[in-house]
Amino acid sequence: MADRKATLTVDGLDKAIELPVYSGSMGPDVVDVRDLVGQGIFTYDPGFMATSSCQSAITYIDGEQGMLLHRGYPIDQLAESSNYVELCYLLLFGELPNDEQYTDFESRITNHTMVHDQINNFFKGFRRDAHPMSILCGVVGGLAAFYHDHMDITQPEDREISAIRLIAKMPTIAAMSYKYNVGQPFRCPRNDLGYAENFLHMMFSTPCERYEVNPVFAKAMDRIFMLHADHEQNASTSTVRLAGSTGANPFACISAGIAALWGPAHGGANEAVLAMLDEIGDDSEENIQRFINKAKDKDDNFKLMGFGHRVYRNFDPRAKVMKETTDEVLAQLGRADDPQLRIAKRLEQIALEDEYFIERQLYPNVDFYSGIILKAMGIPTNMFTVIFAVARTIGWISHWNEMLSDSYKINRPRQLYTGHTKRDYPTK
Ligand code: SDX
Repeated sequence: MADRKATLTVDGLDKAIELPVYSGSMGPDVVDVRDLVGQGIFTYDPGFMATSSCQSAITYIDGEQGMLLHRGYPIDQLAESSNYVELCYLLLFGELPNDEQYTDFESRITNHTMVHDQINNFFKGFRRDAHPMSILCGVVGGLAAFYHDHMDITQPEDREISAIRLIAKMPTIAAMSYKYNVGQPFRCPRNDLGYAENFLHMMFSTPCERYEVNPVFAKAMDRIFMLHADHEQNASTSTVRLAGSTGANPFACISAGIAALWGPAHGGANEAVLAMLDEIGDDSEENIQRFINKAKDKDDNFKLMGFGHRVYRNFDPRAKVMKETTDEVLAQLGRADDPQLRIAKRLEQIALEDEYFIERQLYPNVDFYSGIILKAMGIPTNMFTVIFAVARTIGWISHWNEMLSDSYKINRPRQLYTGHTKRDYPTK
């Protein structure tokens, strides 16, 4: 337990309060404030800027250094040498798999990629122009109706099969939401294809002709999945943990995570970046400067989408890898001079030289370049956050599983009440 203490003195309290201080394996120490309740005091931290909600061993972020580690492995090394299925194993079980473990894990995922045939009927209730995130939210939550056989969250084997089912079925449901939007028939997963390749097959193949997935796109897609896999206690992961702390089933918890991710301040930013680049239109100096000025204008709620981060006060390491991958993919497509890539690079260059962004330590985040690659692959912008959700499912379910594998309490924050004091109902 703690061998160090923090001492808090509060005006009006006759004695100081001693609070335990804990150190993790990396990162800032934490002050355990739970005893404050007994002293009739709460902490106050809107937006949880300085609050550790839990202990976790899955992912570590150092915002000052722009460092991201998954079970200790740096994201740039994983992106270079690993693949998404192996990263899923690492995040869920804590260590890299040996060949036999990898083969078994990949085979279990492959054999769960199909969805129950009745799930096809869910889609018919949506308008054809429904945003695919709304479809994903609904259908994933609805999976709970199909898997009562293994939903005892106190049982590790039930938690594991739910994780496998979610990792496996998210790409299938995501591709179905796209096919429903464009009015094409759903495509079944193929067991002879890899994870990312299978997703692109389900997205773009049709019954009318043979479809070969472009290997450049499959590799880029796998890397995009890896770069979005997990990111500590971000808003959507915290949502999944909070929902899971009530004992809700894993499908409902992941549906809650999808809902939280949808917001433009979070996972919805990748779609918003493309809309912003469309709005900017050309990479002329005055045009880009006009949008930089809008982003700096206090009276204008325009923000530079894909810029800034709650934790990173330096480059988001994922943005660096994403930018390299964007250059690679577009060069291989003979589109190194893509106009939107030109605008994005110019925007980044001007912003990073501007005092406003420097002072606030605002750098490109994971969403700034991802949309340009996805668009180059022919993926519509309304599918960008869906792809983020597919990728992040392993992060969400790994944190959910980590929480349930340990002792936990229902997450129930308190408040600073500023409403009316007690008053009587007026007598008539
Ligand atoms: C993701 O948490 C995670 O880990 C998330 C994520 C993950 O993998 O799970 O990394 C994924 O969500 C990445 C972020 C995607 N969102 C965007 O790109 C949207 C644009 N970014 C901003 O909305 C903002 O930067 C946030 C929401 C990301 C962070 O906001 P904070 O930490 O609450 O910071 P803030 O809004 O208080 O900003 C501090 C200052 C403010 O100016 P002042 O009031 O100090 O004068 O910086 C300004 C803000 O106005 N600012 C921006 C800006 N981001 C912050 N100004 C212009 N453009 C921006 N993008």
